[in-house]
Amino acid sequence: MNKRGRQVVDIARYFHHLDNDATIAALERRVENGDSIFDNVDAGVWFRDCHTEVDQPVQGTVEGVIPSWIDGVLIRNGPGSWNVGEESFDHLFDCSGLLHRFKISSGLVTYQCKFIKSESYIKNHAARRIVVTGFGTRFVPDPCASIFQRIATLFKPGSDNTLVSVYPIQDQVYALGDSNYMHRIDPATLDTLGKIDLAGDVTILHQTSHPLTTSDGETFNLGVTLRPTGPRYCILQLNDVSDLSFQTIFHVLDKTNGSVVHRFQADSFFYLHIINAYEDTNDGIVVDICCYRNPAMLDCMYREALKNIHSTPRYAQMFRARPLRFRLDLASPRTAPTGKVRPSVICDVGCETPRMNGQHQGRSYTYFYAISADIDRDNPGTLIKVNVQNNTCKSWSQKDVYPSEPVFVATPNARKEDEGVLLSVLLWSHHPTRVSLLVLNARTMQELGRVNFTTPTPVPKCLHGWYFPHERKDA
Ligand SMILES: [Fe+2]
Repeated sequence: MNKRGRQVVDIARYFHHLDNDATIAALERRVENGDSIFDNVDAGVWFRDCHTEVDQPVQGTVEGVIPSWIDGVLIRNGPGSWNVGEESFDHLFDCSGLLHRFKISSGLVTYQCKFIKSESYIKNHAARRIVVTGFGTRFVPDPCASIFQRIATLFKPGSDNTLVSVYPIQDQVYALGDSNYMHRIDPATLDTLGKIDLAGDVTILHQTSHPLTTSDGETFNLGVTLRPTGPRYCILQLNDVSDLSFQTIFHVLDKTNGSVVHRFQADSFFYLHIINAYEDTNDGIVVDICCYRNPAMLDCMYREALKNIHSTPRYAQMFRARPLRFRLDLASPRTAPTGKVRPSVICDVGCETPRMNGQHQGRSYTYFYAISADIDRDNPGTLIKVNVQNNTCKSWSQKDVYPSEPVFVATPNARKEDEGVLLSVLLWSHHPTRVSLLVLNARTMQELGRVNFTTPTPVPKCLHGWYFPHERKDA
């Protein structure tokens, strides 16, 4: 235990403790007996295909009260369709990206959705089959093409699909995936306006789908670039790329010149999202991360894996994530191989897609909000509020309902960190053409209201989004 009562752990042992051999063996016995497991989770919500774009805004039906001060647009991105013609993508991250738009004004909400018109989307739909290789889907050359045409297609670049997040950079809005591509979108119409290829401009092979804009307005991202000696991590600052280092998990950089001032090593782990990071008052840097033991969770999102959840004993274990806190002590840096940073457990609850009050990003903070990552809990579709100061959490859930990433919107003139609402998009297990916008009181995690929509198309589960207050005239 550390001073705050948090359990300090070795990452591998900790995750093994959460899913020990006896637990897995018991699940394996149930599958051998023909039983279905993880029955509380409905993987079907991940298999919904949007077949009709909702081009014009449709008005929803309000239940409860949507606070009239909420005046803005929530735009979310995510997998929109598994299928092209008779063919299907093999991995969730290859599905055609679909943008959802909820416009909130005067207590009313409208909904629209539109596919991102990437080159891959246009080519695939023109051919009515998958003709572009993606993250986990390798296209099969057309058997009717000549041998020369088939060989030529193997050297075509991969997919420019950007289905993960929405992020504002300066006065533009972009859809991003974990790749070298970004699509500029119109936040009013959801139209695709243009594409940026970082591989062409600054030889970036890949960037994360989560850039970060600091309080002074600079936007950074982590990428991978190619050098004569091989691939290297790099930090992107808008169009400025600085080359850093091959190795180490934690680099502490001088923001003014990009030089590495400290390196820290920790046990290996995998993550998709950093919750927050800040300098504390004792010459240390705190980094809170939604950690996985390893990248096996990426395998969980193959089409076949999702279909076989109920007969895969290790599925919950592979998806197990926990919020861990790493403190990098700048006064006594433990550079490898002299020592490793051991994390403490913020809260023993599975968390993913963490969001927080943006005013506390990069600063000491108390709360973050997330969705459950434990598919074997009583209700896998749960929204979670974590207090990182006292290691407690609150939650909200409803049977057979799957909420999206919760987006925090502060009350005007708010004084407390959790004074505001959470916006989350709800899907229902048995109603594929039903979607709702939920508004929770962020302090109490109690529902204030929701707006229900019946759509002409199934609404697929989305990944990330962004709330644009109405001072943006274009949203
Ligand atoms: Fe993400």
